[in-house]
Amino acid sequence: MIRALNLDRRYNDTKEEYISYLDDIMERQVPCNGYYTSLVEDSLQNITGRKHALLTNTGSIALLLSLFVNKIGKGDEIITTNYSSPASLAYILVAGATPIFCDVDHTGNMIVDTLESLLTDNTKAIVGTGLYGDMYNHTVISSFAIKHSLVYINDAAQSMFSKWEGKDSLACGDIVAMSHAENKPLPALGQGGSILTDDTDTYNKLIYLRKNGKPYRKAPYSRFGVNGVIDDDKAASILVSLNKFSEWQKRRKYICDYYDSEFDSRGISSRKHSPEWNTHKYAILFPNKWEAEEEIKLLGVETETQYADCLGQDMPGSMYMVNSSLTIPSNPYMTDVEVETVVKVVDKVWKKQNI
Ligand SMILES: Cc1ncc(COP(=O)(O)O)c(C=O)c1O
Repeated sequence: MIRALNLDRRYNDTKEEYISYLDDIMERQVPCNGYYTSLVEDSLQNITGRKHALLTNTGSIALLLSLFVNKIGKGDEIITTNYSSPASLAYILVAGATPIFCDVDHTGNMIVDTLESLLTDNTKAIVGTGLYGDMYNHTVISSFAIKHSLVYINDAAQSMFSKWEGKDSLACGDIVAMSHAENKPLPALGQGGSILTDDTDTYNKLIYLRKNGKPYRKAPYSRFGVNGVIDDDKAASILVSLNKFSEWQKRRKYICDYYDSEFDSRGISSRKHSPEWNTHKYAILFPNKWEAEEEIKLLGVETETQYADCLGQDMPGSMYMVNSSLTIPSNPYMTDVEVETVVKVVDKVWKKQNI
């Protein structure tokens, strides 16, 4: 089976470095929120140019804290995408706020010219969600947030390090939430998340919110919070990914460029992406993705049905993506032969659906 992730190959390639970090963590005897957590936070701060970076145990918790820190909850409305991971909805509901859904276009990204119609007196925030490795329209979302005094949250779980008109996605938004889950561009071995902000007051509050309202033994217990701290072995695995990132990106770009040229020349519809995307997920837009998924699996290729349903209502753009968009493997550990096989398999199934 040609795998979506090839986690085993990734582990074999990186385990020497990773295990040396594990040994070090055990010597330091601080297994969570320790040395590697600080090291990765410093790196993220330097790489992104944001003033503060804070690791969390998941991207979902990073998003939840971004609401808590802005005191957004019951009675507040948040404009968000209608098509994404369930995590893009769950944290809004957990915070007690009301999601207001925005449809997506055939790239899976938010249709921003409908935003004004989604606004009410209760709107407190807008979440920009970039899917598949593309950035959403930051120019419109940013000016919409400024015009209506909304908190602008950038859910960069999938769009990290892509660009919007030359600007890095991680430089966009009042607050950025990233996921480092194992299928993301900058993965942990397991789960992880992070938050970026330039606002020091926000950062200081997040430190409390991330650790049940009391980050240090002698800190005054003054605020509520959750246990959102990350294990240091997960932070260390993110460090490994940071060290590998350029190499992985080069290989992913090579694979995706190859897919682009092959699928274009064969008349196969792939999801259109920006030249400044981060190559996170390569999707084919099948007439019937559910049948395609089954047939491709029988031919030995693992695919991902991003996504199987809408988050809110059945809206036309979201439903199109639900029924069409199937992600094929594009991970940096695929061999050239596997990449070639994926093209042939997709071609075969595509032809069957398009006769
Ligand atoms: C767009 C988006 N936002 C948020 C998340 C949540 O991240 P995590 O799985 O780390 O909680 C994900 C993860 O799939 C995601 O794709």
